[in-house]
Amino acid sequence: MDWECVLQGIEASVEPMRGQGKVADYIPALAAVDPRKFGLAVVLGDGTQSCLGDADELFSIQSISKVFTLSMALRVVGDTLWERVGREPSGSPFNSIVQLEHERGIPRNPLINAGAIVVTDHLVERLGSSKTIAELLDRIRRLADDDSIKVDQAVAESESLAGERNRALASFMKSYGNIKCPVEETLAAYFCHCSIAMTCRQLARAALFLAFDGCDPISGQQMVSSQACRRINAVMMSCGHYDNSGDFTYRIGLPGKSGVGGGILVIAPRHGAVAVWSPGLNQAGTSAVGSLALEALVKATGWSVF
Ligand code: DON
Repeated sequence: MDWECVLQGIEASVEPMRGQGKVADYIPALAAVDPRKFGLAVVLGDGTQSCLGDADELFSIQSISKVFTLSMALRVVGDTLWERVGREPSGSPFNSIVQLEHERGIPRNPLINAGAIVVTDHLVERLGSSKTIAELLDRIRRLADDDSIKVDQAVAESESLAGERNRALASFMKSYGNIKCPVEETLAAYFCHCSIAMTCRQLARAALFLAFDGCDPISGQQMVSSQACRRINAVMMSCGHYDNSGDFTYRIGLPGKSGVGGGILVIAPRHGAVAVWSPGLNQAGTSAVGSLALEALVKATGWSVF
């Protein structure tokens, strides 16, 4: 594949759209990011990295962190995880509470806020809040081969100050017995993992194991079982973009996860991992220009799984 040519094509197709969408402002620390930023990184199984624009600039990975906590929880907790969280698309916004009342406090899937809070609660129950974050960071740093990756504390504090909806979700689930730790302890870990700052290059590199049956092809480390890897990809494909998941799959045809920081991670099974960042979001909280760039990438590479 002529990557230079592929990247040039993507750049040309997104250039007129740069700055589109609305930067998330419900977390005040995210509101100040320049909406014209755009970065993209592709990391292949042989370690080849191809990057575009602001691919080496740090951004808040937000909900993309849910893929890493899910991977860690499937390893630490195993399949009992699914007793407290489902695996159906919600068709609702990422922070919605409506389904929880009819569904006994069991969230639809681990990638909406309520489900990710349950996943984090599982980890905090076993490891405690600070060790959960320390171990998560350790895994991400090893995968990305970069010790500098850390939580942006200013974003974490801002999230906590603006976190009443997540407190409501966690307290509501606790009333059904589906949150085991004190709400503030679980949320402290949740706010921290959402506030991890990474570059597109680091993110694509760290997620490469998901394209290769759970085994990082460069280090040879088996991060999750091949069965867990298939399941994580399936959940990303069906639930990775909340009420925008169907449209994303229709347009891009790859398992993916978006975050309100404007990042999107996609997995191209047996090829590699791609991370794109552009802070302007569509109505469902997915990067508007980022998803256009991915559409162009899939068109040029034929990587859609369909
Ligand atoms: O809990 C929140 O609202 C944020 N920390 C994460 C939300 C998010 O990224 C949703 N994604 N599109």
